[in-house]
Amino acid sequence: MQPTHHLMINRRTGILTLLFAVGCYMPAWSQDTASFSRETLLKQFDADKNSRLDAEERSVLRAAFGGIDIPLLPAEPYDYEHVPIPRHINRAKLDKLDSTPADNPITIAGATLGRVLFYDRHLSRNDSTSCATCHKQKAGFSDPRRFSQGFDGGRTSRNSMGLVNLRYSNIEELEPGLFWDERAATLEEQVLMPIQDKVEMGMKLVDLEKKLAKLPYYPGLFRAAFGSTEVTSRRIARALAQFVRSIVSFNSKFDRSIADSVGRQTNAVSGLNATEQRGRSLFMVGVGGVNEFACMMCHVPPTFNMDMSHNIGLDARYHDRGLGVLDRESNDPFTPSNDGKFKAPSLRNVALTAPYMHDGRFKSLEEVVAHYSDGVHPHPNLTLAFAKRDGNTGTTSGFGLTKEDQAAVVAFLKTLTDENLVNEPRFSDPFVRAEK
Ligand code: HEC
Ligand code: HEC
Repeated sequence: MQPTHHLMINRRTGILTLLFAVGCYMPAWSQDTASFSRETLLKQFDADKNSRLDAEERSVLRAAFGGIDIPLLPAEPYDYEHVPIPRHINRAKLDKLDSTPADNPITIAGATLGRVLFYDRHLSRNDSTSCATCHKQKAGFSDPRRFSQGFDGGRTSRNSMGLVNLRYSNIEELEPGLFWDERAATLEEQVLMPIQDKVEMGMKLVDLEKKLAKLPYYPGLFRAAFGSTEVTSRRIARALAQFVRSIVSFNSKFDRSIADSVGRQTNAVSGLNATEQRGRSLFMVGVGGVNEFACMMCHVPPTFNMDMSHNIGLDARYHDRGLGVLDRESNDPFTPSNDGKFKAPSLRNVALTAPYMHDGRFKSLEEVVAHYSDGVHPHPNLTLAFAKRDGNTGTTSGFGLTKEDQAAVVAFLKTLTDENLVNEPRFSDPFVRAEK
């Protein structure tokens, strides 16, 4: 053990607390604490290695804060404001999809606070569960479990959703709601719902505000983000929404293939093998060139988000009515009601977000594509595109893809994985946790 760590921290616990509380955002520091400047302190703790501390550093740091998890943020804050959008993406078209409200633009300090909140287990009643418990970065911000486990051991009734590209979700200017059944109108509204959910995090917002205000690292983060240390649920919602919106994904094999092909006079899409190209064509152009059978009709590139909920004939009868529960008018004049309609998350990183569908019924992409091919059940609300195949006789079974074509579609879906995103430090867990 390096005695300097220990001495500095034990002698100066109060100051250290303040230092972390004000985080990266207090530029000037008084002379009497000059030797404990943020830089010195962070260097002591190897923050430049993306907060990867050794076991001893962790325990010293945690002890200084009474044994709680402490977020360790980089000296130079990550840039959440300027998201690099690759050149092959039409910026003007993308901006039209932007669902960011005018009163809550992404700021560096706001999204930084949002990142801390996202990973903070104090947001649940018994300090066991954070957003990331069910939205894991390595899994494209979804949960490998079919149903997620809430703070008290209870199970969610639906499969967790991946959280990429929610910023650009205003497809066809329809502004679909959040969740599988679209019940939350905006992200600001949505992010407070899991916190109060009886299974997921079990907190009352008034209690949450009081609890967070007492944690040493929040006053500084709130001041940096919103101008004062006051902790309100509205600010919590705004910061979480900023962080979630900052998670955008446009760096996959699929993107690189387009970027490479731009300006070339060739039909081949460079970087994709023959199977992936075949899958791409089936996804974009449809089966036998029939547009209705194109996956992109609903999973719209370049975000691969959906514009509205659909019924895809998973069952003849649905246990879960999806959008139907909300008692809204049918979202499509060709279907009598909204029963059995759902909105899927972006297919970006879909290879990482298994299991699939609102109830996590399919373990693999092969199973998903087999459903579209031969497993579609007739349903009164089945999307017209699927019903058409058999002239609306009610005997629909699917697109009828050959085994080779099914494999090609799966291969294409796997080109949508963004390896950077799932390792990106700015979206990672900032907390110094106890060794297991
Ligand atoms: C116990 C697990 C669990 C926790 C904790 C949790 N979520 Fe979720 N999340 C889910 C599930 C399950 C769904 C789908 C629920 C549904 O549609 O009814 C979901 C859906 C979402 C969606 C909708 C995505 C879309 O495409 O419409 C967002 C956004 C989201 N969660 C963000 C968060 C945030 C932010 C937190 C922390 C404040 C959080 N979640 C905490 C399980 C969880
Ligand atoms: C008519 C619109 C529509 C078309 C066309 C369509 N899908 Fe879907 N897709 C959906 C809906 C709706 C869901 C969610 C259904 C549910 O959970 O009940 C979904 C879910 C998925 C999922 C699971 C996503 C997740 O995170 O769980 C994948 C993968 C998928 N679709 C791929 C495809 C492929 C590949 C095609 C083309 C063969 C396709 N889709 C065609 C509407 C469509």
